[in-house]
Amino acid sequence: MCGIVGYIGPKPAGSILIEGLKRLEYRGYDSSGVCIYDNGELFIDKCPGRISVLEEKLAGDPRIETGTIGIAHTRWATHGEPNQANAHPHTDDSGRIAIVHNGIIENYSALKQFLTSKGHVFSSETDSEVLAKLISEFYNNGSSTLEDAVLAALGEVSGTYGLAVMCADEPDKIVVARKGSPLIIGVGKDEYLIASDASAIIEHTANVIYLNDNELAILTRDGLRTLTLDNVPVTKKIQQVEWTLEQIALDGYDHFMLKEIFEQPDSIRMSLSGRLDMRDMRIQLGGLDQVVRDLVRTRKIVLLGCGTAWHAGLIGEYLFEDLARIPTEVEYASEFRYRNPIVEEGTSVIALSQSGETADTLAALRESQDRGALTLGIVNAVGSTIARETDAGVYLHAGPEIGVASTKAFTCQLVVETLIALMLGRRRHMSQQTLERYIEELQKIPEKIETVLKQSEQIRDMTAKYIDYENWLFLGRGYNYPIALEGALKLKEISYIHAEGLPAAEMKHGPIALIHDGMPVVFIAPKCGTYEKILGNIQEVKARSGQVIAIATEGDTEVHKHSDHVIYVPDTLEALQPLLTVIPLQLLAYHAAVLRGCNVDKPRNLAKSVTVE
Ligand code: G6P
Repeated sequence: MCGIVGYIGPKPAGSILIEGLKRLEYRGYDSSGVCIYDNGELFIDKCPGRISVLEEKLAGDPRIETGTIGIAHTRWATHGEPNQANAHPHTDDSGRIAIVHNGIIENYSALKQFLTSKGHVFSSETDSEVLAKLISEFYNNGSSTLEDAVLAALGEVSGTYGLAVMCADEPDKIVVARKGSPLIIGVGKDEYLIASDASAIIEHTANVIYLNDNELAILTRDGLRTLTLDNVPVTKKIQQVEWTLEQIALDGYDHFMLKEIFEQPDSIRMSLSGRLDMRDMRIQLGGLDQVVRDLVRTRKIVLLGCGTAWHAGLIGEYLFEDLARIPTEVEYASEFRYRNPIVEEGTSVIALSQSGETADTLAALRESQDRGALTLGIVNAVGSTIARETDAGVYLHAGPEIGVASTKAFTCQLVVETLIALMLGRRRHMSQQTLERYIEELQKIPEKIETVLKQSEQIRDMTAKYIDYENWLFLGRGYNYPIALEGALKLKEISYIHAEGLPAAEMKHGPIALIHDGMPVVFIAPKCGTYEKILGNIQEVKARSGQVIAIATEGDTEVHKHSDHVIYVPDTLEALQPLLTVIPLQLLAYHAAVLRGCNVDKPRNLAKSVTVE
């Protein structure tokens, strides 16, 4: 996730900004840049790659030593590749106004069109650059101060931002604003710092002001003023940071995996952001604009992935066949690439990958390209190899995933697949009414996930009761069959407990022989088309003295009668159930690993990104 740092005070800003950026490295980034005011001008330098590259570029430049006010940024790409032009800070045409921005500007294309018509020239592919131009548009046409221009510009913007702005004509001022992207202000002796989180600040001061959403602050050498975005003054309390640096990186969580599990409501909001057009009730996926006509006519979809991404592909098969009515197959990338696959005319191949660098997925993708398929990527890492080599694609916008076991990337993969399936479905056969039901329900998913997350402690207590069992089964049907596979994979990869996932009906063709002596069997059993059948399967397990843990729909009393434990998830449309039913299984695996003393974020023998065969 992008990071912001800023400084105004008596000391040279350069080294404070660079050190601050380094403190934010853990958030993930692919380019960085600084803006320092010196001698009547804004000096900007930025580049792709590590912060050390930026540091080397800046070394020896006197402006780093003399400037005492500046803003800096680490970018984790969302719109446009990680390159120099897309790195922040961005400026207006004159180079007198500079901004750094975290978040997503949803209406950036409309704003870009408007600003281009006014003569502004854009030099990046980012959504953020519109902010610099829009602020200058107001600054040069009526706003008397930088803060007035920022307020006016933000009034035109929809989306999320943590924002810091400087202007060479008001050289002793930084204006910051926040909506949906964190921003805090450090209050030192005769100095202020700003940052996306406290880690970039605490070596200078423990006194901080937390800016709330829809608030703006004006930092000058004489003091600080805070306003709402409606221009009403607000008084803010100075608070003390008591966390260590490591705790800050983890935002109070014990592990990145747990943090990322809990981030899912927000990562899904980001994934949906700008893609659900609530006015016209349609789905817009800019990344597919160029290929949408071919996609609508596609005869077959092949989904490729490895590990958790392959499980997302399995759910994609249900989504594309059910919602878009397009014949779909899912392939392990490692099998597809060596199988001499038949790729008929009209086939679209979609590669699913968090990292965009998985060797087998990339090789399978290239193989399908050679055989004439249209290729798409559903990728989290912007500018990664898969993202670059596909004909088109949709980014997850899940934010960096640090825990080796994929969690938030998985649910965002499901969200993006659903969006594509709905967009194609509507163009092929789906009624507007049905689409609207999905759009409305998709919007409620983040809140519904929040209610599941609240059960984390109960899930831990329940997991503790079964922690000594070395063999588990996970069973589900339909949309929840791949969730059974994902639940089993999560448990084995981080807690080293042996677990198998199966379609529930397959149990009686062999695995039922394993069930005896209290073996834990997890049923993913929400209300759905095959609910009655799965109740039957639950009873088969109970009859053989297995212990049943069921994931069920809120208010379902029937499942409760036959299960040892029930974890409830809110009701939703069947196609969206995996987004809710996977959450308790992620938590179960996490708590099992912690209870067994395993290294959750770095499980044995596993790598986050598998770039070799
Ligand atoms: C590794 C990770 C998994 C991930 C898989 C595919 O095995 O441990 O969590 O699902 O790679 O990675 P990708 O980056 O292609 O999604």
